[in-house]
Amino acid sequence: SSAWKLDDHPKLPKGKTIAVIVLDGWGESAPDQYNCIHNAPTPAMDSLKHGAPDTWTLIKAHGTAVGLPSEDDMGNSEVGHNALGAGRIFAQGAKLCDQALASGKIFEGEGFKYVSESFETNTLHLVGLLSDGGVHSRLDQLQLLIKGSAERGAKRIRVHILTDGRDVLDGSSVGFVETLEADLVALRENGVDAQIASGGGRMYVTLDRYENDWEVVKRGWDAQVLGEAPHKFKNAVEAVKTLRKEPGANDQYLPPFVIVDESGKAVGPIVDGDAVVTFNFRADRMVMHAKALEYEDFDKFDRVRYPKIRYAGMLQYDGELKLPSRYLVSPPEIDRTSGEYLTHNGVSTFACSETVKFGHVTFFWNGNRSGYFNEKLEEYVEIPSDSGISFNVQPKMKALEIGEKARDAILSGKFDQVRVNIPNGDMVGHTGDIEATVVACEAADLAVKMIFDAIEQVKGIYVVTADHGNAEDMVKRDKSGKPALDKEGKLQILTSHTLKPVPIAIGGPGLAQGVRFRKDLETPGLANVAATVMNLHGFVAPSDYEPTLIEVVE
Ligand code: 3PG
Ligand code: CO
Repeated sequence: SSAWKLDDHPKLPKGKTIAVIVLDGWGESAPDQYNCIHNAPTPAMDSLKHGAPDTWTLIKAHGTAVGLPSEDDMGNSEVGHNALGAGRIFAQGAKLCDQALASGKIFEGEGFKYVSESFETNTLHLVGLLSDGGVHSRLDQLQLLIKGSAERGAKRIRVHILTDGRDVLDGSSVGFVETLEADLVALRENGVDAQIASGGGRMYVTLDRYENDWEVVKRGWDAQVLGEAPHKFKNAVEAVKTLRKEPGANDQYLPPFVIVDESGKAVGPIVDGDAVVTFNFRADRMVMHAKALEYEDFDKFDRVRYPKIRYAGMLQYDGELKLPSRYLVSPPEIDRTSGEYLTHNGVSTFACSETVKFGHVTFFWNGNRSGYFNEKLEEYVEIPSDSGISFNVQPKMKALEIGEKARDAILSGKFDQVRVNIPNGDMVGHTGDIEATVVACEAADLAVKMIFDAIEQVKGIYVVTADHGNAEDMVKRDKSGKPALDKEGKLQILTSHTLKPVPIAIGGPGLAQGVRFRKDLETPGLANVAATVMNLHGFVAPSDYEPTLIEVVE
C-alpha cells in the first residue's frame, strides 16, 4: 500500500547488493591486554579503520540511545538489534517495567488481576533471572513485585531463582540470593509464607533461547514444577555457595536444586490453582519456558504433570504468537521496522546466523516479531549451533559457516540485502576466557573477510557494525579505568557486555562516489543505522526514523 512506499533517494542508486554485518559483542576500546579484539589478528576490521574518517566511525550502543533507563545500562542484543532494525528508539522493557512499578500501574492491570485471583487460596510463584544486570531482569523490580503482591494479598510466595554471572560478575549470585533471602525473612516475620523454592544457573536451567537445547528448559521444569532436582538443600544461600564448588560449575552453569523442608519435601512445586509470574522482561530466553507453561499441546519434553495455573509474563514475550497471553506490562510496540518497509519496496533479503543468535537478526531485528514479512522476498537461514557446550571450548563457533552462507547468498544474485550476525565476540566473551575470546575474534574477522570478498565480486556495498561491546574489555575496571581488584587482590574478569561504543564502517565497490559519514550528528547511535541502510538501497527513510549517518558530497 502507499503508506509503505519509500521515496527514491535523490542521489543514491537502487539495485546494489548490500551486506549488513553485525558483529555481536564487538565494541571499541583502548588497546591493552584485556582487549581481545585488539589482541586478535583482525586484518579485515583493522583495514576499515586506519585513516578512513569518512567511512569508519563510532556510534552509541548503550543507555538511552537504545531505550534503556539510564546511561549506566550497558547495551545488549535485544535492544541493540531492535534499534538497528527499527531505526527509532523505543522505551524498552526495563524502562517500561520501571515506570509501571513506580506508578503502581502494574498492580492495576489485567495481568496482575488475573494472577492475583489465586492469592487467597494458592501460591504465587516468581520465576526469573536473579541479578541487577538489567539485561533480562532486575532484582529491584523483583523486590517491588514481591512487596506489591504481599500487600495485595499474596499469602504464600515461592521464588524460583536463576543465577546470573553473565550480565554481572561471576560469584555475585551469592550476594543477590542473600539480599532476596533477607527480604523473604522480613516477609515471613510479617506473616507471609515466603521462600526461595528452587534454583539453577541461567545457562543450564530454564533460560535457553531459539530452541538450542530443550534439556535446559526441562531441568527448570523438573525443579520448579515437579519439585525434583539432583541437589536438595534447606537454604538457598547454602545451595548456591555449595554448588558453585561442583566441577565445572559457576553462576552461569550452577546445577539445579530444590529447597526442601525438614521432612525432605520440596517447599514449592507448582501445582493446580497456583499463580506463576516470570519476572524477566526480555523475551528471547523466556519464549521456550513460556511455551512449556502455556501450551496444552506440547511435545518438546515430557512435562510429567501439567498444572492448571494462572500464568503471566512480566511482558508479552512474542507478539506474533501472543505468548504468554497474560502479562503485567505491555511490551514496546516496535512497528514499521526497516525490514517491513524494505519488503514493501521490493527489496529481497537473506538473513543468517547460527542458532544462538539466529533470532537476533530476524526476531529482534524485526521488532520482536517471528516469521517473515513476505516469504517471496525473504529467506532466513539458521545454522545449528553446537549445543551443550560453553563456547570457549569451540571459540570459532560457526563463523565460517555463516560467512560461507552469506557469500553464497551474495554471489547468487538473488538478494538485495544479505544480513548476518557473527556471534563469536559475544558468546565467547561471556565465558570470561580471554585466550578463547582472542581466537573467537579472529574467527569473526575471517568471516567478515569472506563477506567482503563476495561483495567485491558483485560490486556491492558492505555495512559492518556491532550491537554492543563485550570482547573489547574483559576486566572490571575502577572509575579511573584501571583493572579493579577484589578483596583478595584478584582481577575480576568481566563476562558481561560493556558501555563502550561500537564501530560502524561502510565500503565496497558499489558505494557511490562522495558517500561519507556526516559530522553533524551529535550522538549517533544504533538507531541511525536503519535509515543509512535504506539510503544505500536507494531510498529515503521514513521521516520519523532517526537520521541517516551518511551524506553524499559532490
Ligand atoms: C545473554 O542472554 O546471553 C546475555 O544476557 C546477553 O547477551 P546478548 O544480549 O548478547 O544476547
Ligand atoms: Co551477549
